[in-house]
Amino acid sequence: MNDLAKSFRVGLIGTGRISDIYLKTLSKSDSVNVVACGSLNMDESRVKAIQYDIPIAKPPEDILADPEIDAILNLTIPAAHAEVSLAALEAGKHVYSEKPLVGSLADGRKVLDRAVELGLSVGNAPDTFLGGRWQTVRKLLDAGTIGRPTGAAAFVGTHGTERHHPNPDFYYQTGGGPMLDLGPYYLSAMVFFLGPIARVAGLSNRAFDKRMIENGPRHGQMMPVEVDTHVQGMLEFESGVIGSITMSFDVWDSEMPRFEIYGEDGVICIPDPDPVHGANIFQGEVWYRTRDTSRWSHQPRPRGREAWQVAMNTHGLNEDCRGIGLIEMADAIRNGRTPRCSGELAYHVLEVMYGILDSPKSGRFVDIESRPPVPEILPETYP
Ligand SMILES: NC(=O)c1ccc[n+]([C@@H]2O[C@H](COP(=O)([O-])OP(=O)(O)OC[C@H]3O[C@@H](n4cnc5c(N)ncnc54)[C@H](O)[C@@H]3O)[C@@H](O)[C@H]2O)c1
Repeated sequence: MNDLAKSFRVGLIGTGRISDIYLKTLSKSDSVNVVACGSLNMDESRVKAIQYDIPIAKPPEDILADPEIDAILNLTIPAAHAEVSLAALEAGKHVYSEKPLVGSLADGRKVLDRAVELGLSVGNAPDTFLGGRWQTVRKLLDAGTIGRPTGAAAFVGTHGTERHHPNPDFYYQTGGGPMLDLGPYYLSAMVFFLGPIARVAGLSNRAFDKRMIENGPRHGQMMPVEVDTHVQGMLEFESGVIGSITMSFDVWDSEMPRFEIYGEDGVICIPDPDPVHGANIFQGEVWYRTRDTSRWSHQPRPRGREAWQVAMNTHGLNEDCRGIGLIEMADAIRNGRTPRCSGELAYHVLEVMYGILDSPKSGRFVDIESRPPVPEILPETYP
C-alpha cells in the first residue's frame, strides 16, 4: 500500500439506484473506504451493506454522529441534498454529493460558505469529465487541434425516466427536470473545455402535465409534472465562445450529435450511440476533423489516463466509474488542493442552469457571477 492506504473513511447516505455503481467503484479503491451506509429506507440500506461488504448499516443521524467517519457521500434525491450536505459539514465531515449540488442558489452558497468556515471540502458529481473521452477532448483542445474554439453545442433528447427508474417522481418535481438532471454533465464538461460561462438565456416548455410510471412495482401510477421538460439555453463564455444546450425529456428519439465544439481550424464531435444514457458516460469515441482532413479522425482515449485510474485501483476508463470524483477528492484533500469535481464548479453549473430556467421570466440574458476554478486535465500517470 502507498499513501493512498484505506484511510479516507466514508459514510454513505442514500442507498437507492445510483449507489450501486458508486459502491462498485469504491470497493476497488485503495484510498477510500465506505464504512457505513444508511437512508430513509434502512431495509434497502441493510441489503446494500451485505451486497457490498460495508461493515454496518445505520440511520443517517448515527452516521453523521460517528467520529470515525471523515466524509459523507450524499446520494439522496435532489430535494434532500442541501439538508444532508449541511448536516455533514456541521458534523465536521467533508461531503461529496450527487448532482445537482442543491435545489437553490441560496442553499448552494450556504453549503460552500459553511465548508470554507469549517475548513472542509465539498465535492460534487458529475465526475464523468474525468473519463477518457472527455480528457481526450481537453487534450485535443490544449494541443490546438481545432485552433481557437468559437462555439459549442450540447443536445440530449430522451423521453424521461419513467420507463427505467422505479421511483421517477423526483425528476418531475421542483428541483428536477432535464436541465437540472442532465445539464450538469454537459455544462461541467463545457467549463472543463472552455472555461467559465458569463451569461445565459433560455426558453422552455413541457409536453405533459402528468406522466405514468412504466416499470417496477408502481407501474401504472400517474405522477404530476411540476417542471418544464424541454429546455433550451444559449451560453456566452467569458472567453467569447458561444454555445447552445438542449436538454429534454420530451423527445422520442433523435439523430442530433450529443456534443460538438467548433474551432477556427476544425471541429470535435462527441457522438453517442446510446440514446438512453446520453453522454453522461465516461467512455466512447471522440471524433475530430480539421481544415486539413477530408474525413473524421477517431481519437482513442489516451492510455496514460487509463493508467491513472488503474493506479487508483478503480475501473479502467472504459466502464462507468461514478465515484472516481470522490477518490480524486480524497487525493486532493491529502495534497491540499482543490478537487477537480469541486463544489465551486457545481455551484457555477447550478447558477448557469437556473439562469437558463429563469431568463424567460424577464425575457433577458442573465449574468453569471460565479467563476469556479477550471479543473486541470488529469496527469498522464498517477501518482
Ligand atoms: N438513477 C440514476 O440513473 C441516476 C444517475 C445519475 C445520478 N443520479 C442522482 O443520484 C441521486 C439519487 O438518485 P437515485 O436514482 O439513486 O434515487 P433513489 O430514489 O433510487 O434513491 C434515493 C435514496 O436517498 C434516500 N433519501 C432520500 N431522502 C433522504 C433523506 N432526507 N435522508 C436520508 N436519505 C434520504 C432514499 O431513502 C434512497 O435510499 C439523485 O441526485 C440523482 O440525480 C441518479
